[in-house]
Parts: sequence; structure tokens; C-alpha cells
Amino acid sequence: MLYDVIVVGSGISGLFAALYAKRNGQNVAIVTKGQPLRSNSAVASGGINAAHLESIQSHIQDTIKGSDGLYDAQTIAQMCQEAPSIIEELIQLGVVFDSDPQGEPIRRPFGGGSVARTCYIGDHTGSAITQKLLAACKEEGIHILSNHFFMNMTFFKGALSGVTLLRRSDSEVLALACKALVLAGGGYGGIYRGFTTNDANGDVLAAALKAGMTLVNMEFVQFHPTTIKHKAILLSEAGRGEGARIVDETGNAFVDALATRDVLTRAILTHEAQGHNVFLDYTTLSQETIQTKLPQTYKSAFGSAGIDISKEPVPIEPAAHYTIGGILTKADTSTQIPGVFACGECASSGVHGANRLGGNSLLEAAFFGRKAGMHAARKANRHSFLPIDYDLIEKETRTVELIIKGENLYNVAAMRKNLGNIMFKHVGVFREEKGLLDALEYIHYLMQKSYGLHCLHKERDNNVELLSILEFHNALQVAESVVMSALARHESRGVHYRSDYPQKDDRNYNGATHIWLLNQTHMKVRFERMRSKNLLDALYKLFLKD
Ligand code: FUM
Repeated sequence: MLYDVIVVGSGISGLFAALYAKRNGQNVAIVTKGQPLRSNSAVASGGINAAHLESIQSHIQDTIKGSDGLYDAQTIAQMCQEAPSIIEELIQLGVVFDSDPQGEPIRRPFGGGSVARTCYIGDHTGSAITQKLLAACKEEGIHILSNHFFMNMTFFKGALSGVTLLRRSDSEVLALACKALVLAGGGYGGIYRGFTTNDANGDVLAAALKAGMTLVNMEFVQFHPTTIKHKAILLSEAGRGEGARIVDETGNAFVDALATRDVLTRAILTHEAQGHNVFLDYTTLSQETIQTKLPQTYKSAFGSAGIDISKEPVPIEPAAHYTIGGILTKADTSTQIPGVFACGECASSGVHGANRLGGNSLLEAAFFGRKAGMHAARKANRHSFLPIDYDLIEKETRTVELIIKGENLYNVAAMRKNLGNIMFKHVGVFREEKGLLDALEYIHYLMQKSYGLHCLHKERDNNVELLSILEFHNALQVAESVVMSALARHESRGVHYRSDYPQKDDRNYNGATHIWLLNQTHMKVRFERMRSKNLLDALYKLFLKD
């Protein structure tokens, strides 16, 4: 099958990319391994940042401040300036933001913001936006390939020619030709299984590594401070934006609930280590606020923990939520491989630096999704289809057959859980060298054992074990890149806190970790110092205190 542009991923960045490629005259398909409405975008509940015209400058400054020194001022400025037009476009697509009587979207405060600038739909912003975008994609004739698992890119004489996919309905490996590819398959929070609000597995990052691409700043994993204890269910920042407080068992609000997420997660864990229990307390909010602004939060706290948030505080703990690292991209979303673009959580776009502000991820997804779609369309317009490498398809078919038919030696669910445990324990909010090395050794051990993973059930239609095993191989590779990058950064910055190097070290580490596969088994990390890429960067460096 032939598509001018293939988009991998059906979150906000992927849907926007597909729409923009289609509107620019291309035949477009979206590939998603499950159902299109299941994405990390749908989980980001609290809102999307878009300042009023008169306060865009403060949005730029807060984002730069949040980045803890690692910023690309020009791209941040463009993103913040474009935010109002993104809200406008979403409204045109039928998204109904909570608005004032004049029809202007109301803004709520979010962590790290000096003014209220987060537009929202109650506390289900991401899913409301995703639904409308998906409807628009379908209306415009974009082909949605649900239940197709993206495996790899294919090349002809070094140039992109298409992708290989596992069709889950019959476990066949397919090749689809394309002229341009947009990777929008989400981040890698799923490597923290059991301790994360999202299950994005990092599949596109693993494919990027295999294709020889570089991943950037993989050590920057953002923990969300407020998830239901022992369940890792998100209690949206929307609640704190509406006035909920972080308190201990005495009712003491020991930290400002709207500090940035890195500050909050460390404060919560430190307070717990001092013998306290920590809660999110909504009991001072009115019933009306809870019913109209936080209905999902009410339902999930009641449904999963039996807690009525209007009456009692909810026990909380931080969980992995958003991954800042990703595929090396330029400001136009192009990657090291001509014809391949990356956007959203799987890309390292440079707008979050070392710490993302809440509400900026949906904005990033929309901003770069639109760009990726336009650039992919331009690329596809100028190029022809290239032959598919059938050797790769045969190789992948053999891998799939081996996993289905071989004799299983281990339990993939247990190994997956163990990966999550070790990542949370040693590569969590606080890290130090010994723990990181232990994690790396354990990942290598799991990698060896993972070749003994086969399907217990040999059916070919929607074989969940097959998918879990393929995902697990990817998760291990991505986890290795996170640990190696965390080992390489001997400082504490943003969401990366090294207990053995508790200070920020601008002299040596004001830059990005780059990691790539040297050969099938070894990765290489290099540190790239950040240089001011443009005049705006240089000006911010001179006049702003990070
Ligand atoms: O808490 C939240 O609603 C999450 C928002 C985000 O990650 O931007």
C-alpha cells in the first residue's frame, strides 16, 4: 500500500501532523498500535497553555525559567506566540473550552506560571481535544490504521522508503511505502510500569535508535507530583490550579502547590522521608468547583480509591508522567534522516529544557504537530516512492514467528514489572551512581533473558503476548539509553537530581546528552555543550537570570 505521508501515533501531535499533511494535498495514513483515542495526550487533563496577547512575553519567560538553563529561546518564543492561534483553530474544530460570557476561554493558573494562562475543558482537556481532532482527520479522509504496531523504518540506498508494521489481527508483518514519515508515537513513561501515569512504551524511540538516529536528554523524566498513592492514577494539576493544597497529616501545607513539578516531587518525597504522610486536599473547594471544574478527578478518586475528594484529602505520591528526552530534531521537526520528521513527546524539541511546565505539553504537541505535517507534505511533494527492502520484512517476519512458535521460558508480565521497579527505585526522582549502575546491570540481565520470551498461547489474532514481548524488547533498549544518559550527567538540573552531584554545574553540563547505537549491542553517549543558536538565545542569556 502507498501513502505519501505516514504518521505514527494518534495523540495530539500525530493528529495535527496528519491534518496538516492532508490539507497540503497528501494522501495520509495514521498508524496506531491500539485504538486512536488511547494516547498520552488524552491523559494530560489540566489544560493547554496559551497566554492572552498582552502576556505572551511572560509565557516565554516562564518557559525559559522552567527549563533550568537548557533553552532554545527562539523556538520557545515561536511556540508561545503561536499558542493563541492554536486555541483559535481548536475552537474552529469544535473544541468547547470553558469560557466566560463573552466566549473567551477562561485561564487557570498552573505550576511555574507567573500568570493564569492554561485554557481548559474541565479536567479532561487532552481527551476533549483528541476527540475533535480525530473526528476532523476522519472527515478529511485520513486513513486510520488501528491495531497496527510500528516496527521499523525501511530504506533504499540510505533514503527512507517506508515502514514495517505488525498487523495485529493476524500477526503478519506488512510494509507500507511512503515518501515522508512523521514519528509522533509518544514518550517512554511506560518503562516505569507500575509507577507511571502513562504507558507510552518508547517504541518509536527504539526504532529511531535502530535506524541510526540520536536520542537527546533521555535522563530528563518528569514525575508528576500528585498521583493517588500506590495506584499512580493522575490527580490533575487542574485541582491545584483551582486551589487544592498539598498537605501532611497535620493539615500543614508544607509546600506551594503551584511550584514547578521538579520542586514539588522532591519536596513531597523529602517530607515523606522525614516521617510524614502527604495528601492532596480539595476540601476547601466549593462543591460547585468540584462538580464543574474537576468532575473526572472526583470520579477517578472515588472509583479507584473510594475517596470523596470534597470530604477527605487523598493520599498521594509522585509517578513518572512525561518524558522530556527524545529524537534529535531541528526546529522544523526534521531529523537526521531526510524525509523523517518527529514531533510531540517522542521528539526532543528543546522547548522544555530540563523541566517542562504543566500545560506546555499539549501546546508543544499542537505546535510541532502542525509544523511536522506541513514539512512532511512539502517533502512528499518533491519526492517519489522508493523500493521497499524485502530482506527487512523477511527478517522481521522470522522474529515474529520465532516469538510465537518458540518455547517460552519466562513471564513477560513479571519481567516488565521488574523493569518498572528497578527504574523507579534507581532512576526515579533521586539518582546516584551506584543505583544507576545497578539498574544498568539489571537491564542487561533482562536483555539476555528476554530472548527466552515466547508466546504461551500461539494464536495469531490479536496475540497480546506477542505485542508485550515486542514492546518489552523496545522498552529495555530505551531504558538503557535513559540510564546511560543519567550516568553521564554529573549534576542536578530540572527533573534530573543526582544525590551524589546535588548542584547544577553550568561550567561542564550546560548542554545536552546525545546517545546512539554504535552497533547492535552497544550505545555511545556524548555530551554536547549548548551554544547560543541565535541572537534571541544570546540576549536571554545576557538579560535573564535562569
Ligand atoms: O496534571 C495534569 O493535568 C497534567 C498536565 C500536563 O502534563 O500538562
